[in-house]
Parts: sequence; C-alpha cells; structure tokens
Amino acid sequence: MTTDSTLQTLVDLGATSPDAVAEKFAEVRARFDRDVAQHGSDAGAQPTLIGHWTSRKSGILTRVGDNWLKPATPELKKIVGQEFQRLKSHVETTLAAKQKEIEATQDAAAAARDRVDLSLPGVGRSIGTRHLIQQTFEELAGIFHSIGFSVVEGPEIETPYYNFEALNIPEHHPARDNMDTFYIAGGRGEHLLRTHTSPMQIRTMEKEPPPVRIVVPGKVYRRDNPDATHGYMFHQIEGLAVDTDITFCDFKGTVEYFVRAFLGPKVRTRLRPSYFPFTEPSAEVDASCHVCGGSGCRICKFSGWIELFGAGMVNPAVYGFVKYDPEKLSGFAFGMGVDRLAMMKYGVTELPLLFQNDVRFLRQFP
Ligand code: PHE
Repeated sequence: MTTDSTLQTLVDLGATSPDAVAEKFAEVRARFDRDVAQHGSDAGAQPTLIGHWTSRKSGILTRVGDNWLKPATPELKKIVGQEFQRLKSHVETTLAAKQKEIEATQDAAAAARDRVDLSLPGVGRSIGTRHLIQQTFEELAGIFHSIGFSVVEGPEIETPYYNFEALNIPEHHPARDNMDTFYIAGGRGEHLLRTHTSPMQIRTMEKEPPPVRIVVPGKVYRRDNPDATHGYMFHQIEGLAVDTDITFCDFKGTVEYFVRAFLGPKVRTRLRPSYFPFTEPSAEVDASCHVCGGSGCRICKFSGWIELFGAGMVNPAVYGFVKYDPEKLSGFAFGMGVDRLAMMKYGVTELPLLFQNDVRFLRQFP
C-alpha cells in the first residue's frame, strides 16, 4: 500500500519539473474522478465524498495546499499554484453539479410520489339522510307553505308569561297541571322549557301587525315518564292564522285540506269538541284511519279514527295580550305532535327509535 501522495511534498515525491508537477496533479484529479464515478450519484455517500475532498481541516484539497503548494520551490511556485487552482475548481464544480443532480432526482421522486392520479376512483363519503322527524317537519311545513303560511322559529327556553299567561292560562289554572313543566333551576320560576310551541303565537302577534299566517316547528318539553310513546322531549308544529275575515269555515277547510295532503285524498276529517284556554271553540281533529279506511284495525285501535291534533278558533282573550283588536280580528290555531304524526304515517311503533340514532332504523327513511 502506497502512502497517500498528498501527505508528502512534491520534492519528496521527486516532482521537480513542471511536467512532473502536472503529472502529480493529474494523478490526484484522476483519483477524484474515480471517486465521483463511484460515489458521486449516491445521495447517502455525498456528504462523505464532499468532506473527503473539501473539508477545510482534513480534506485532500487542503492537504494539497499545505503539502504541495505552500512548500513549493520558488521556480515551481507559479505552476503549482495554477495546477492547484485548476484542480480546486474542477473538484468544486464537479461536486456542485453532482449535488444538483441528486437534488433533481429527489425532487422528481417526490413529485412522482405526490402526484394526484385523477383517474383513480374517489373515496365515496356517504352523506346520510335527513332524519325522519326533519323530513316530517319539511313535509308539514311544505303543505302549509303551499297555502300561504310562512315558517318561524322561537326559543325553547321561555318565560311563564309566553308559555302560559298570555295564552290565557293564569297562574293557578288547572291547565298548567297537565303540562308538567320543567322549570329552570335558580331562576325563581322566571324561565322554563316551553311545554308547547304556542308561545310563538304570542311572540309573533306582539311583533307583527295582522294578517298573520305562520307555522312554527320546534322541540317542546314535558315531565313525562318515558315509554313507547312518551318522552321528556317531543316535536310540535304550531299554526296560527289571524285576519279580518277568518271564519270557522276557513278553519275547517284548512284542516281538511291539510289532512288530505298529508294522509291521502280518501281520508275524512272529524272535529270533536275539546278545551284549550287559548282557543274558543276548541276541537280535537281526527282523521279516518288511513290504513283500514275506517273499518277498524290495530293502528286505529279498532275505532276507525285516529286522533291527530288539537286546534280551535283563537280565543279573543288572547288578542288582549298582544294589542290586536278582538272586534275586528278573528283566526284559528292548531298544534300538532310531529313525532306522533310521523310514527302514525310511517308505521313506527316505538318513540325511542326516533332518538336512538341507530342507522339500521334511519336508513329505512332515505
Ligand atoms: N298547544 C296545545 C298543546 O300543546 C295544542 C294547541 C295549539 C291547541 C293551538 C289549540 C291551538 O296541547
């Protein structure tokens, strides 16, 4: 094994003529070219190669400078200097070019890796469906929209004034008892969860002059023991129409139109006397059973009729709370349990199914 020529001086190496000097430099250059040919394109070996040749402390170029150039005899100093510069710039430009080459290869590889292949099939994301309750809300609102009603929404946290007083249900009225109310703790009875959507009758008439034609979809809350048909929360859609010339006939016609639109053209409607403090007269609206046509079946409990919702002509006492003139105005109102209507129409037998969010159930209503 020969010692590395760059560890010795040119004199030691016997290179005392310009030709001999050129030959020694050519040897080093050839050695560099071999190194580059072997390792120059290898990204992993690149730092070692660069260090080996150009490291300031121990690189070969430094050694050539220290051992060949610095001790050169005055006669050869110039030629050694020129050869050294040529070698140095050859090494530096070659390494820089190799480095560029490697970077370009890496960039190309990264680009190929990151390229979006537009011909690949996409990832299908299922967007789900609207919940059965939402679908029913939209269906109900759509029917009323088609005959001139608009949709408004209101707060679920209410005051006793809107939920009771202004609807003609005074403090010790028995009607408060059968609407087991959730009061909000710490509020000294100032707030409650609305037990029906009727408060929006008041809020709407307070804000807007007549005529009024609105439906109000929303959640309502009552203290109930949960079972197959009861929960602590359910959904209602309220309706209110007030104008200068609304009669009981308009009320009946609207109700009948709605029932046919919702359950089918063959379904008949029946009004039974009822009582609500905010309507007078009040009625329960029944429909002939849409399943058996009225002959009696399990769905209508063999009565031929299905109870749909409560309604009535607006009690004039209510107008007093919203500064409407009871002499000039009249109207009707209704309030429907949306969960009940959805269950009846779509044959759902258990209320909890609507809220358990089991996709096997929900997918049945695409
Ligand atoms: N708010 C009543 C209830 O929840 C229903 C209703 C609304 C009755 C409007 C008449 C008029 O029971």
